[in-house]
Amino acid sequence: MAAVIELTGITKRFPGVLANDQVSLAVAPGEIHALVGENGAGKSTLMKILYGLYQPDSGSIAVRGQPVVLDSPRRAISLGIGMVHQHFMLIPVFTVAENVVLGSEPARRGRLAPDEARRRVRELCDQYGFVLDPDAELGALSVGEQQRVEIIKVLYRGAEVLILDEPTAVLTPQEVDDLFANLRRLRAEGKTIVFISHILEEVLAIADRITVLRRGQVVGMLEAARATKAQIAEMMVGRPILMELPVPEVAAGEPRLVVEGAVIAGARGRPAVRGLSFAVRSGEVYGIAGVEGNGQSELVEALVGLRPLVSGRLLIMGRDVTRTGARGIRLLGVAHIPEDRHRRGLVLAMEVWENLILGHHTRPIFGPGLLLDRTAIERFAQERVARFDVRTPSLRTPTLALSGGNQQKLIVAREFAFDPSVLVAAQPTRGLDIGATEFVRRQILDAKAAGMAVVLVSAMLEEILTLADRIGVIHAGQIVAEFARGAATPREIGLYMTGARQAEVRAG
Ligand SMILES: Nc1ncnc2c1ncn2[C@@H]1O[C@H](COP(=O)(O)OP(=O)(O)OP(=O)(O)O)[C@@H](O)[C@H]1O
Ligand SMILES: [Mg+2]
Repeated sequence: MAAVIELTGITKRFPGVLANDQVSLAVAPGEIHALVGENGAGKSTLMKILYGLYQPDSGSIAVRGQPVVLDSPRRAISLGIGMVHQHFMLIPVFTVAENVVLGSEPARRGRLAPDEARRRVRELCDQYGFVLDPDAELGALSVGEQQRVEIIKVLYRGAEVLILDEPTAVLTPQEVDDLFANLRRLRAEGKTIVFISHILEEVLAIADRITVLRRGQVVGMLEAARATKAQIAEMMVGRPILMELPVPEVAAGEPRLVVEGAVIAGARGRPAVRGLSFAVRSGEVYGIAGVEGNGQSELVEALVGLRPLVSGRLLIMGRDVTRTGARGIRLLGVAHIPEDRHRRGLVLAMEVWENLILGHHTRPIFGPGLLLDRTAIERFAQERVARFDVRTPSLRTPTLALSGGNQQKLIVAREFAFDPSVLVAAQPTRGLDIGATEFVRRQILDAKAAGMAVVLVSAMLEEILTLADRIGVIHAGQIVAEFARGAATPREIGLYMTGARQAEVRAG
């Protein structure tokens, strides 16, 4: 079938990087085409070119056989190409319908026609089987629902080709299933989808064809029905990937982090965590499993002193730090991999080296007093970047210019520096490619073997089952069950996560 999108010989250079190198890609109408590759392989760059956000240095683009110049997103949209943003650009106090039409409002005699907007949104939802209330206030919706609004918004503007760059990274497993149902329905209605993900199981489940990028070049295209995870991984990395992780046996030591009866306020002052207790010892990984939005985010912020406890106690290294605050807690050797790397983990406008010493710059090795020892910093930054494989043209590159996964690697590299005693890690491998995921998991296990106490919050149950010695299931702001490694099946844990099992116990 003639391609709906045809990219030919696309080359895009950034200072010090060849992001896309003679990339050719033909997307057939009505297919779900996955784009995979290591962090920094050039996936997002290629999609930004297709959406008119970046101009290629050379190469050509044809849409439905016609050569085009995509010099702006406006132009891309007019040709039926839409991109679903990962960092949602929606307005919380507006309704779903208002958000959908924002920027392209239906006007009647020059005036806004809200009924018309609502009707169109309802029609689109019906046509594509989306569950969404046009009158709901956006701020009250879950992340998965907000993503649905972004997709409807793109459809409302007439998109025939939808680009989704790591749409599942922010979703819970249930929401991923819902998204996939929506994508299959869109495909059935003739839409074309380009989909990016690092989770190869997802790619194999949803895609018709898979294009693999490595260091800016296309290394191959596969039919998903005949591809395997190991095969894709090897193409991505250029060598076979083991995909197994021996877990070291460690005798747990003294308690390093203890939470007693914590009550923590969430948004709008309502308690997000409601009397929660657990303890993590030296040499132990404590995994917190739960459906997102059950208090995990607030709990993590409280553990590192970024959010106060309304009541209860927090002890770290045997000291009561309930009122200590972030800086004092950090000085006790608590490292933090935050969930939202843009808000908490990095200053994007700063250079790579600056982000690598963020929070560490007062350490004596970086110079006495306020004087910074350039050579020591350079040596430190160089070592971190090499060890954690942060792909950056230089230490002086603005962090903004790094690919998403490489920004995450930078945070991990910094947080593992200076032998922390405790690590509070939220979604530590989100957005990382297979190799980097394995590397970061190994760092966690090695540090645990050396005595670190780890609190691991992850939306990926598989990650918790792999790494955790004990698992606490969080539901509605409480730990509703606790299991030793191997003591519960994923299904059992799932029942507690959704609250179903707790209800059963009460009923019985
Ligand atoms: N605006 C920019 N300025 C400078 N360099 C950039 C810019 N955008 C991307 N790059 C560089 O281009 C390369 C490809 O980045 P890109 O974001 O396309 O990777 P990716 O495949 O999407 O990776 P990830 O899986 O981590 O999201 C990287 O080396 C990145 O640092
Ligand atoms: Mg990317």
